[in-house]
Amino acid sequence: MAEVVIVANAAEAGHLAADAIVRLIARKPTAVLGLATGSTPLSTYAALAERAAASAKLPGTKISGAKISGTNISGAETLDLSRVRGFALDEYLGLPPGHPQSYRTVITREVVEPLGLTPTNIHVPNGSAEAAATAGDDYERAIVAAGGIDLQILGIGTDGHIGFNEPGSSFASLTRVKTLTEQTRRDNARFFETPDAVPMHCVTQGLGTILRARHLVLLAYGPAKAAAVAAAVEGPLTASQPASVIQLHAHATVIVDEQAAAAL
Ligand code: GLP
Repeated sequence: MAEVVIVANAAEAGHLAADAIVRLIARKPTAVLGLATGSTPLSTYAALAERAAASAKLPGTKISGAKISGTNISGAETLDLSRVRGFALDEYLGLPPGHPQSYRTVITREVVEPLGLTPTNIHVPNGSAEAAATAGDDYERAIVAAGGIDLQILGIGTDGHIGFNEPGSSFASLTRVKTLTEQTRRDNARFFETPDAVPMHCVTQGLGTILRARHLVLLAYGPAKAAAVAAAVEGPLTASQPASVIQLHAHATVIVDEQAAAAL
């Protein structure tokens, strides 16, 4: 049963999710984060960037170049993100390297640079067409080698998808190539020059991969997400609502605004 937290807006949700991440990093400076793309996690990344910037300004928190994790005398936490590791949830298949909409580029632009993460610590599934047969297994191995994902940030699609696990995805699925639904291609067409430019395929962490993360933090805002949130949290466990898989997780936190909570 997921813990549901209802907040006023995305900014407040971002601060709450950032609190959980800051606590994790205080305990484990090399924490492994699961990084979602999409508009939903942006307020969380912004809140984290704010904390990291505030921490960098704190006096007297450096000893031999290393910051002490914890709370200083002024009450502000010190936060050093340089050793944090990350795994993106998914990637398009077949976009040329450096394409502005590849999730490698998006994660670099929206997460790695603003947070000051170390680029070599951040992994994204290999979306090159030549790697399609091996990208999934390679990614699973890399996650295991990192010791698993400590905290997985998740958005949710209006059809209940998480990552790119569209309705019908197996609850046991691991990272693999999937075909995007027409609905998702239409939804994401706004980011591309023409609707036809949206890739047909992706590489996504599976629902089974997501279940292995130690803590899931699912975020959703706005009325368009209300039905999917209700199905995820209270509906039957069903592959037609992939996010309902979170009910199988021992530590899942759902942070929603009142509009996204309206059908609960
Ligand atoms: C995409 C991503 C998902 C994301 C979803 C919702 O399909 N692959 O990870 O959760 O869109 O996007 P948004 O947060 O912009 O509503």
